[in-house]
Amino acid sequence: MRSVTVITHPLVQHNLTRLRDKRTGPQEFRRVLGEVAALMLYEATRSFAVERVSVKTPLAPARGFQLRREVVLVPVLRAGLGMLDPILQLIPHARVGFIGLKREEKTLQAMYYHQSLPPALGEFEVILIDPMLATGGSSVAAMDLLAQLGAKRVRLVNLVAAPEGIRLLHSHYPKLPIFTAAIDQRLNECGYILPGLGDAGDRLFGV
Ligand code: PRP
Ligand code: URA
Repeated sequence: MRSVTVITHPLVQHNLTRLRDKRTGPQEFRRVLGEVAALMLYEATRSFAVERVSVKTPLAPARGFQLRREVVLVPVLRAGLGMLDPILQLIPHARVGFIGLKREEKTLQAMYYHQSLPPALGEFEVILIDPMLATGGSSVAAMDLLAQLGAKRVRLVNLVAAPEGIRLLHSHYPKLPIFTAAIDQRLNECGYILPGLGDAGDRLFGV
């Protein structure tokens, strides 16, 4: 599929399987989701623009690189929080914004309830973080908000995607790069991903 990278690294797939397993409780779920997020970040940031810089080692001048743009991490509440801390440890200078969305149970519409984002988003590399891409409604709503605020370079770090969600998201944002660990079979009649891993927010926070 266009602009979708499935990260097949054995450690990512090993951890994804532990997350899918219904016997994995909240404590382990949190830890493993964090581990997988950190592993996925390497692939998701591979195309970040860099610029050449010179530094001096204790012995001699050396040429190197630095990131061209600042980074802002945007987890979608709640489940995106489970991937935030480990990513922040790898990009400690990143800023963090939040988007609060909740799927209404019957209509599956994403209801917006919170945002807190830095100004001048157009200057940043934005990493949108949401482990679940089901109908795609939440990711489209998050992208709409980021686009309204001027974001130009956004990538989505996701754990499990349904084909329906990818199609909807790419019908609105065809160039958005999506990094995921799995494209699953389909949605069930309640809008859950099959086989998926259940409700990510509930499993993460033990609700
Ligand atoms: C989950 C998940 C995504 C959304 C995906 O959040 O974290 O944000 O569902 O579904 P969609 O693609 O059909 O919109 P939920 O709305 O359940 O909120 P929560 O994270 O607070 O549990
Ligand atoms: N949200 C989840 O947490 N899981 C799904 O399968 C679908 C939406």
